[in-house]
Amino acid sequence: MKRVYMDANATTPLLPEVMETMRPYWMERFGNASSIHLDGQQARAAVDRSRSTMAEFFNCHDAEVVFNSGGTEGDNTAIFGLLHPGDHFITTSIEHSAILQAAKRVAQHGVETTFVAPQTSGLIEPTDILRVIRPETRLISVMLANNETGVLQPVEEIGKIAADTGVFFHIDAVQGAGKVKFDVRRFGCHLCSISAHKMHGPKGTGAMFVRRGTPLEPLLVGGSHERRQRAGTENVPGIVGLAKAAELAMHSLEDGTIDRLVELRDRLEAGILQISGAGVNGGWDGEKKIPRVANTTNIWFDQVEGEALVIAMDLKGVAVSGGSACHSGATEPSHVLMAMGLDKARARASLRFSLLKTATEADVEYVLKAVPEAVEHLRAISPVAAGTAGD
Ligand SMILES: Cc1ncc(COP(=O)(O)O)c(C=O)c1O
Repeated sequence: MKRVYMDANATTPLLPEVMETMRPYWMERFGNASSIHLDGQQARAAVDRSRSTMAEFFNCHDAEVVFNSGGTEGDNTAIFGLLHPGDHFITTSIEHSAILQAAKRVAQHGVETTFVAPQTSGLIEPTDILRVIRPETRLISVMLANNETGVLQPVEEIGKIAADTGVFFHIDAVQGAGKVKFDVRRFGCHLCSISAHKMHGPKGTGAMFVRRGTPLEPLLVGGSHERRQRAGTENVPGIVGLAKAAELAMHSLEDGTIDRLVELRDRLEAGILQISGAGVNGGWDGEKKIPRVANTTNIWFDQVEGEALVIAMDLKGVAVSGGSACHSGATEPSHVLMAMGLDKARARASLRFSLLKTATEADVEYVLKAVPEAVEHLRAISPVAAGTAGD
């Protein structure tokens, strides 16, 4: 059976060029970048080259790039590394759990957090951030793109607010990296976290932009790696793979790949919306379109159980994600969709389609055939659809 992977926001495969670039660093070029012999020097040179590529990607100085293990570490580092007891922290209620859980942790140490809610469109209103800034506010953290809806947040405006009020600003850019033009100077942030595996690089690798002079305490201490900002022997194959993925991502933004992806996503979305009782979550503010990353659409289906739909789609060879997540064994509706004002049933009955940048027209056609069949089948057997709900 053909399989179509439309869950790129969960993870992406390595591109062949990334695999090839990494390959020597697992075996013949296995040196430790801290060693002074030739093997070490080769590893160090590879890390240095990768740092320059990442500096180009972020639009920052080489010394402002810190390699780490990915988005979770970057998000945690921003919060644990900047906040002290008595500080106030501002973030949003639609962040990834790497931010939300870290906020919970620092609450135990006397850091109060304000969670700003989004509009029903999924957009964070910058004035809602401005309104909750206090003299004790030390850090604002807002994501560049939401992982579930793809909605792009107005980080530049938030960056200006942070600059005007003298507050540090972190961007979780995990879902925006490689999908939109990147420029940390334009964003006006002090810290920015990205992850390789969301942009066709290896899992367990990432990088953080740390603006020069930001008083960030390291999360991991030990050796003097990464200018003492992140201890631990450098993951040289991972770093090399991240840089190659970033280089390819920069090309994709210029060579029409992203425009083609927008067309495919829009065709997919329009096709799915032919189904009655379906609508898009986020991306629209009344009649006005909200900017979204190119590859994502999130759609609700009336009278369908989302998890059943994910399974039905999987059985038809299509990988997508649902609007619920498993927490401590119970399935909870997505906190993002709930924060946007969806009721529990609709949040649960939502699917996220996130296309790989290698997606084809044939993939879209295949999914457009599978979705109506799966929805129709589930509605036919659904107690809700049959009017027997609550019986
Ligand atoms: C918005 C966002 N932030 C952070 C993360 C965590 O990144 P990683 O998987 O590299 O730890 C993810 C991953 O799903 C994400 O979507």
